[in-house]
Amino acid sequence: NHILTENDFIEQDDLRYPFEERGLQFGDGIYEVIRVYDGKYYLIDEHVGRLYRSAAAVKINVPYKKEDMYKRLDELLEKNGVEGDAKVYLQITRGSAPRDHAFPADTDANLYAYVKDLPRPTELMREGVTAITQDDVRWDWCYIKSLNLLPNVLAKQAAKEQGSFEAILHKNGEVTECSSSNVYYVRDGSVYTHPAKKNILHGCVRMRIEAFCNQENIEFNEAPFLVEDIQYADELFLSSSTAEVMPILKVDGQTVGDGTPGPVTRTLQKCYEQEAG
Ligand code: PDD
Repeated sequence: NHILTENDFIEQDDLRYPFEERGLQFGDGIYEVIRVYDGKYYLIDEHVGRLYRSAAAVKINVPYKKEDMYKRLDELLEKNGVEGDAKVYLQITRGSAPRDHAFPADTDANLYAYVKDLPRPTELMREGVTAITQDDVRWDWCYIKSLNLLPNVLAKQAAKEQGSFEAILHKNGEVTECSSSNVYYVRDGSVYTHPAKKNILHGCVRMRIEAFCNQENIEFNEAPFLVEDIQYADELFLSSSTAEVMPILKVDGQTVGDGTPGPVTRTLQKCYEQEAG
């Protein structure tokens, strides 16, 4: 397995991290998960754009210029002979230096990226999933795709322990997003989702959902909904680069709508399929 680092490609087993590394010690870094279909990137500009925005927001210097990053990411797929469906995980940390909360002077960022096969979640998308609700205890800057994922990890684990696929996060009852996806409420044919403010991740698939809604004359409202509104939803779905467009059929054990994937969700799944698949 060839992985990309801040310098060049190396074999996976040759990756070594010094014992003082800011990603490990502080979660001082950022990341992206990029989808690959049939050996080609999907929404690559959106992901690369967000990567540089995250980096700038936390003052990390990306080791590659944008045009080189595109080239390197293409090489990653070539070198690993990727022809099918996969995901690329890429992370950049502030680097290695004696432990100190303040930034070390002149430390180069560490980067690594690898690719893994990932089939599309076809069956789950057809059948739908269940979710639970959890307090959103994260910080205010969730638009930065930061390596600090402990609240997300704990929320997802709680979902897993209750046999659910995702945790829907809310701040004082107002739904923000999920532990690793964006979430949408459908009522009377219109879609509602939390505005792309600083307190949610601006999902790359979310941008496409908005575009698909416009294309299909489905009203797309950047207006938050409440946990207590879920009982009145006709449909609920989530989106991410790995889960695509996923119907949610139950929340905290309560059936959503009629308990089957609804027409708006199905339409958006079709749009996604046409563009990506
Ligand atoms: N997660 N919200 C959060 C908190 C996320 O972690 C993600 C993605 C999304 C959806 O973003 P996008 O549409 O750009 O994939 C929303 C990735 C898949 C992960 O952490 O594995």
